[in-house]
Amino acid sequence: MEKQNLIQLVKDYRAAQKCLIGFNVNDIYDTQAVAMAAEEANCPVMVMTYPPVVELNTSYLCKKMVEGIQPFTKQPIYLHLDHSVSVDMCKRAIDDGYDSVMIDGSQKSLKENIAMTKEVVRYAESAGVLVEAEIGKIMGRDVIIKSDDDFLASVADVKAIMEEANPHIMAVGIGTAHGFTPTTPKIHFDRLSEIAAAIEAPLVLHGGTGIADEDIQKAIRMGVAKLNVGTIVHTTYMKEMYKEMGKDIDSAYPPYLMKNVIPKIKDVVLDRLNAVNFKNSVLV
Ligand code: 13P
Repeated sequence: MEKQNLIQLVKDYRAAQKCLIGFNVNDIYDTQAVAMAAEEANCPVMVMTYPPVVELNTSYLCKKMVEGIQPFTKQPIYLHLDHSVSVDMCKRAIDDGYDSVMIDGSQKSLKENIAMTKEVVRYAESAGVLVEAEIGKIMGRDVIIKSDDDFLASVADVKAIMEEANPHIMAVGIGTAHGFTPTTPKIHFDRLSEIAAAIEAPLVLHGGTGIADEDIQKAIRMGVAKLNVGTIVHTTYMKEMYKEMGKDIDSAYPPYLMKNVIPKIKDVVLDRLNAVNFKNSVLV
């Protein structure tokens, strides 16, 4: 298996209007499902550990988990730390061999966001690790939106963080939201287009569970080279496990139970991979 350098891969993807999907995972079972889907879809994938997973397991163990699961597919699995608000957690993940980290300073002032990002970019440099930064806000969950367009990434702020901290990829708040939302989020493609024209770095779209396929594909054509998907993985995992447990709790041994759950998670992961691999299907 050839594992291309991730920083180069996302640059190439932006140029070719392709997109890598990062899937939030919790443990060996959903990570196996992602690996199996990558094998079927014939494309590289990223698994993303979010901070509670790292706090519970350590980034060392997460790295070992992905190394152990890599042989399930011939496709490269890249490991990413998602939404870390802690510079120290990013540094630890870099030391433990992650391919990629996100330093999320989006809830801080621009000045603090730039300073945090700069520190992580410097630390990651010698290890060749990709750094993702965020400008604007991804709505949903506990993100505080102070005014109507508070979430919207400003082009000037994106340019400032790129010039001063130079992260490799940029997550931008353009209206998408984490998780299931009562109404379909309105995506500000006009702003995405302005940002894409202002910087060369590949862009990242968060909130992949609630974005329509045609919007994902439109965003990819505009410069999005990484899409984050989480909620649909977690909810499928929990609902399918609950169903299996309900069948007969007295004989619900984990390996037998997970044998039925993993293929269900694989199906939703594959469905999202097919949504971004549209170049191989109907649209070209
Ligand atoms: P969803 O949970 O909406 O798929 O978003 C995931 C995400 O953006 C993680 O960073």
